[in-house]
Amino acid sequence: MTIQWNEMIVPDARALRTSEIRDLLKVAERPEIISFAGGVPDPKLFPLATFNAVYGDLTGDEVAGRRSLQYSISEGLPGLRQWIADDLAAAGAARDIENILITCGAQQGLDMLARLFLEPGREIVLEKPSYLGAMQAFSMRRPSYVGVNMDDDGPIIAELDAAFANGARIAYLSPDFQNPTGRSYSLDRRLAVLETARKYGAIILEDAAYCKLSYEGEMLPSLLALDEVNGDRDAGTVIQLGTFSKTMAPALRIGWITAPRPVICQLVLMKQAGDLHVSTINQEVALRAATALFPAHIETLQDAYRAKRDVMSAALDETMPEGVSWSRPQGGMFIWLTLPENIDSRALLAEAMEDAHVAFVPGQAFFCDQSGGNTARLSFATESTERIVEGIKRLADLIARKGNQ
Ligand SMILES: Cc1ncc(COP(=O)(O)O)c(C=O)c1O
Repeated sequence: MTIQWNEMIVPDARALRTSEIRDLLKVAERPEIISFAGGVPDPKLFPLATFNAVYGDLTGDEVAGRRSLQYSISEGLPGLRQWIADDLAAAGAARDIENILITCGAQQGLDMLARLFLEPGREIVLEKPSYLGAMQAFSMRRPSYVGVNMDDDGPIIAELDAAFANGARIAYLSPDFQNPTGRSYSLDRRLAVLETARKYGAIILEDAAYCKLSYEGEMLPSLLALDEVNGDRDAGTVIQLGTFSKTMAPALRIGWITAPRPVICQLVLMKQAGDLHVSTINQEVALRAATALFPAHIETLQDAYRAKRDVMSAALDETMPEGVSWSRPQGGMFIWLTLPENIDSRALLAEAMEDAHVAFVPGQAFFCDQSGGNTARLSFATESTERIVEGIKRLADLIARKGNQ
């Protein structure tokens, strides 16, 4: 008898969909395409020499080498968690190592938090637009999305308040250099978000993936840092996701969740059941590399990405026709483009790839309500400055031609 695979697969798994955009963007990997579509760091900035030395030192050491190739505890290596706790404390968010779980990238953190807090129909508040990978992780649990609109200072508080007043008790937010818009919250808005969440006893999942990639101005405290309740590290409302993917290398697959202890305890059980722990050797390497590299390497990244952001911003200023606007991110990897209402960025992508050999990500994919048809995400992280200038010019010419049609 033939197996009906679709009927065997549970509804949670069937909720995952492939995206036609993803298929289209596979073509963007061809060298002749100038791609602003990637969501990845610039590989030229990976600290290769440090990794070479650190992996070599480790595997060349009889004791540390063998220990780093062994199983280890599900919470993550205490030394690495202590490094993260110290780094958080330096950013004003003092926590104990018992508040930290090492995960396989922040993405696994999102998946674990989805399994911990979401179930079919349960509401979760998302920024409009929001990080696509988070929506994919959440969608497995078939929650109900409540989108809140954003202005330049962060989420509109009246909308957040209404979402909580209507029963939502979880919000997923990215206050620093958001993927996909590059926008950050002002200090006042951070405080207002926290106050609103506390008013309703709602929890906040704070994605801090890009927080260290700050190119100007003072770094504002994270929601986690502002979430102090009488010095009690387990009484807060914020759970934060961190990662070394943007500051060292994504292939390390080292991320972490910082949360009140009861949450971490439950997550540790899930980690044990799921994949036991994150690669011991990669945790050890991440600790040694971070100790050796930071903060100088962060400054190298900031300088390199700031220069690319400036080049892309200037190219947009010089070439984009009337009616197109874009974000002015103070950090991160992305600029968010808003096109005239009559231009559909999905259709534009097909033409841009075919005629102009330029790729970007149409913005609609980042909206939980399928709005944003005239928006696009541009990454300035991976292309050279020459190709950024050329690619923006080609895109601007195409948009101008469409505007005239
Ligand atoms: C906002 C955001 N959060 C989380 C992640 C996942 O990062 P990783 O799993 O590599 O730590 C990404 C990756 O692009 C991201 O942009």
